[in-house]
Amino acid sequence: MSEKKRSSFTGSIGFVLAAAGSAVGLGNIWRFPYLAAKDNGGLFILCYIILALTFGFALLTTEIAIGRKTKQSPLTAYGKINKKFKGIGTLATLVPVIILPYYCTIGGWVLKYFVTFISGHGIDAAADGYFTGYITQQWQPIIWMLVFLALTSITVFCGVDKGIEKISKVLMPILLILVIGISVYSLTLTYTDASGVTRTGLEGLKIYLVPDFTNVSFKDFFIILMDAMGQLFFSISVAMGIMVAYGSYVNDDTNLMKSINQIEIFDTIVALLAGLMIVPAVFVFMGKEGMSAGPGLMFVSLPKVFADMGKTGTVIGILFFLMVIFAAVTSCVSIMEAIVSSIMDRYNCSRKKSTIIVTAYALIIGIVVCLGYNLFYFELKLPNGSVGQILDVFDYLSNNILMPLVALFTCILIGWVAKPKTIIDEVTKNGEKFSRKTIYIVMMKFVVPILIFVLLFQAVGIF
Ligand code: PHE
Repeated sequence: MSEKKRSSFTGSIGFVLAAAGSAVGLGNIWRFPYLAAKDNGGLFILCYIILALTFGFALLTTEIAIGRKTKQSPLTAYGKINKKFKGIGTLATLVPVIILPYYCTIGGWVLKYFVTFISGHGIDAAADGYFTGYITQQWQPIIWMLVFLALTSITVFCGVDKGIEKISKVLMPILLILVIGISVYSLTLTYTDASGVTRTGLEGLKIYLVPDFTNVSFKDFFIILMDAMGQLFFSISVAMGIMVAYGSYVNDDTNLMKSINQIEIFDTIVALLAGLMIVPAVFVFMGKEGMSAGPGLMFVSLPKVFADMGKTGTVIGILFFLMVIFAAVTSCVSIMEAIVSSIMDRYNCSRKKSTIIVTAYALIIGIVVCLGYNLFYFELKLPNGSVGQILDVFDYLSNNILMPLVALFTCILIGWVAKPKTIIDEVTKNGEKFSRKTIYIVMMKFVVPILIFVLLFQAVGIF
């Protein structure tokens, strides 16, 4: 049977924006700010940036290069590097399979918030119990999840260049402008609360950015470092086959090193700006206590902040949730693409058929995840100490267990079996310069595997 021509991005900008579209997602806007707010602001940011430049860079480079070298999607790519490591492909494909339904569920929540704000009911979202009241309903969360899933499926259905690349080229620049605009606005805020204390955005900025080394015990530092590493994994979309899939669509003459740097810079800047947009605003209206809100920061605290801003708050709320939708859709598209492309390569089936199969799967399991807060409600204690419902169990399995495992095996494969040269040769095959080469080798052979071990131990509750 003749090989079908593999789709590809039209050029390096298309690739960079699509990969940045994958990387910039709920992780940057929802997760990064609340972790930064909880974890000593500046110190967390410092750890994150250092890890991004070393650890993150090594993993991102590896995956993109594996994709381009093998021209295969994750399910089959690892086996092409070394037959004995075929299993990594299966594990790596399992991650997006687990993530897709719950990412669509969260995407649905974001859509709902956007619609609430644009229909002028933003104030309702500020009421206590609004979020829990909403997600525990039986039908509404399912409906919005389906709308979000449909947006994702249509994009993937249209293909790499006409779907994924096109949507990323439009949405990512708008997202960047929105995030810059809202963060500048956030810095100009001032508010005097009932007790007469006035707080300003600039004070919030200081708390957000300046590391505070007083009273940081070794244990605190360890937690901050692990949080930063877990966040980085999630944020640059590695260890789940996505970057392998996207790498496989990159033309051979693209300068990978340059593109990888751009993707990393884009992702980190949006995360920093998202923090800049959210943390000072929450500080101004809710003080320091408000900053430790955890996962509820975006859905619970922010609507209150928007309500306190008065009329402008409605506009900012609309723009904010619109931006979150853009970020979430482009990420979800990449999650679905990793699975769709794997089915296409493995079973030689068409994009359309494969997308339909994956959509049907996400639809069924997505409904189950939504109902995890209603019909199927339970409280399960996870090994890392948190208590969760179906969504949290999925999230725990993928982020805390499978992703570190995929990254660990990838390090063994590239660091020790196939050797870093495999990747370095791929990256430099048009005579490009591999900057940070030594860092890359040391990372893949030693540092990344060791840190991942620690992360895994922490995830299963050993530390
Ligand atoms: N990197 C994305 C973010 O920061 C999240 C993501 C997770 C994307 C899993 C794809 C797969 O939100």
